Amino acid sequence: MRRKRSDELPRFVGDDEARSFRWRRKYTYYLVGFIFICWLWYPGRKTTSPSDDALNINWSNYAYSLYATDSTTLCHTLLLFDALARFGSKADRVLFYPEYWDTRVEDSKDRDSQLLVLARDKYKVKLQPVKLLVVEGRTRDEWTGTWDRSVTKFMAFSLGYYDRVIALDSDITLLDSLDELFTLPKTPIAMPRAYGTDSKPWPLSTMLMVIKPDIDEFDKCKNRIAGGGNNMLVKAHRFDMEIVNERFEDSALVLPHRPYALLTGEFRRHEHSAYLGNPDETWDAEKVFKEAKLVHFNDHPLKPWIMWPQKGLEEMQPDCDGSHEGSCAERRIWKHLYDDFRHRRRDICKLLSVPAPEWESIKGPTQNSTDGTGHAAPEAEEVVNASSG
Ligand SMILES: *[C@@H]1O[C@H](CO)[C@@H](O)[C@H](O)[C@H]1NC(C)=O
Ligand SMILES: *[C@@H]1O[C@H](CO)[C@@H](O)[C@H](O)[C@H]1NC(C)=O
Ligand SMILES: *[C@@H]1O[C@H](CO)[C@@H](O)[C@H](O)[C@H]1NC(C)=O
Repeated sequence: MRRKRSDELPRFVGDDEARSFRWRRKYTYYLVGFIFICWLWYPGRKTTSPSDDALNINWSNYAYSLYATDSTTLCHTLLLFDALARFGSKADRVLFYPEYWDTRVEDSKDRDSQLLVLARDKYKVKLQPVKLLVVEGRTRDEWTGTWDRSVTKFMAFSLGYYDRVIALDSDITLLDSLDELFTLPKTPIAMPRAYGTDSKPWPLSTMLMVIKPDIDEFDKCKNRIAGGGNNMLVKAHRFDMEIVNERFEDSALVLPHRPYALLTGEFRRHEHSAYLGNPDETWDAEKVFKEAKLVHFNDHPLKPWIMWPQKGLEEMQPDCDGSHEGSCAERRIWKHLYDDFRHRRRDICKLLSVPAPEWESIKGPTQNSTDGTGHAAPEAEEVVNASSG
């Protein structure tokens, strides 16, 4: 009920007149409502929020930085460049890759060169051949054979030409552009946390780093890398996290891991409060998937570029609360993420998935399906023969 103002005089109007007045008023409300909704929706449906000019954004000062260390990761960077193009990202794209590769396509099987050319010509990627950064493993003072090239991601610090760079790992699926991260408050580095890891505070995760390029930081990183790392960390490809956490754990701007760092393993878990960030919120797999912007594959030892061993799939897939019949949102989404990755590998890189290995040969002795987030889990043998097919 609307409150009648005391000074409002009673009005006497004929029935017909009142009705037509009410009708007119009703339609006016509808019209106003309709226009309001259009106004609300129109700018919201576009991928870019307010106008770039208003925000004073010069996109050539920003870039995504990816790196390839072998044929497998090269393909996966292509998948990401393709996703960025599809989502209408406006920033530059940079790819670091081994300097001994070239862009001269020698024959139809020269897939590395073909992909580099595709990146350069179709996705407008700026190619940066480099000597890969490599960290060697070390047990006390004794050098051993383990080494890790994933520290090459720190090359992003060397891109002094840009104001800000987003460095990404390649074993991820982008579900949306991340361009809005270029407009974060000024800070040397912004990263999500590796949520759900055992130790608190959760360490910063290197799968996504919003970096202000800085040659001094780059040199510091290189020195740290040259010093070698704890053997176990290097073997587990975790040394990059160690470097970043040593340097930035207290000062980084922390990005919300929801929606910027979802793990595929989340769909296999039964406890979701770490991801949701709210113990009272009810888990809704569809909603979480829809709002996520970046998903990292962490179902060690399963990889999206290697076919599923049937037994491995049965053991690892989301268990739908123990129902082995039928399906559930978690299982559908989880399988979709893998299928989608394989299809894009085939369509964009023209690479078939690596045939399924024997499950027993890749399954670790202490692997249990739903525990852990996998950040701590070592990678499976790198390239399991990538370029065939
Ligand atoms: C954007 O930045 C680049 C490099 O800093 C500069 O060359 C270019 O003129 C700028 N464009 C605009 C429209 O300001
Ligand atoms: C892993 O799961 C199996 C049953 O599937 C169980 O017997 C075993 O104890 C578990 N191992 C660990 C380390 O939790
Ligand atoms: C890759 O596959 C080819 C045949 O398809 C084989 O000759 C080669 O040894 C394999 N390489 C590795 C590293 O497994």
